[in-house]
Amino acid sequence: VAILSYLCRKYSAPSHWYPPDLHIRARVDEFMAWQHAAFQLPMKRIVWLKLLIPKITGEEVSAEKIDHAVAEVKNSLQLFEEYFLQDKRFIAGNQISLADLVAVVEMMQPMAANYNAFLNSSKLAEWRMRVELSIGSGLFREAHNRLMQLADWDFSTLDPVVKENISELLKKSK
Ligand SMILES: *[C@@H]1O[C@H](CO)[C@@H](O)[C@H](O)[C@H]1NC(C)=O
Ligand SMILES: *[C@@H]1O[C@H](CO)[C@@H](O)[C@H](O)[C@H]1NC(C)=O
Repeated sequence: VAILSYLCRKYSAPSHWYPPDLHIRARVDEFMAWQHAAFQLPMKRIVWLKLLIPKITGEEVSAEKIDHAVAEVKNSLQLFEEYFLQDKRFIAGNQISLADLVAVVEMMQPMAANYNAFLNSSKLAEWRMRVELSIGSGLFREAHNRLMQLADWDFSTLDPVVKENISELLKKSK
């Protein structure tokens, strides 16, 4: 978030990214302040539980743990849709802002583990399409390219020390 704000100022980005109108700006700030723990973590957790942990440690994660994480993601998505997006074109209103950028990047994460966060909501799917078209589909695809190929990545090339460290970390968090 700090880097995005910095880039906006440094390159005098078009004002819709971080709108000068105080009420509209407050909407962007509101989402930015909320998303760290309530949005980003559940989305990333799915990738770890469904893909990275099994690939790195060779052990599947229990179904209960995954179900719990999926329930959290659904709850976050529902909050996002009902509270932040509502019936607007974008989070701040009619124009795309930093908040949409941060939101879409997080919601794309579970796709790496074959979990489509946009599947059951046409409102979310249409919003995503608007964000993608605003950014440009080519750039959108390029930005998510490595993420989409994560499942095919050869984890055997991972440094064994890193592997060991991650396994240790996981044992502690159990
Ligand atoms: C979409 O609906 C299916 C079937 O009810 C469900 O299994 C899946 O978890 C849902 N996905 C999301 C992101 O809500
Ligand atoms: C692995 O963990 C040890 C002990 O915490 C640390 O000193 C080392 O830098 C870590 N190595 C890598 C490659 O992460």
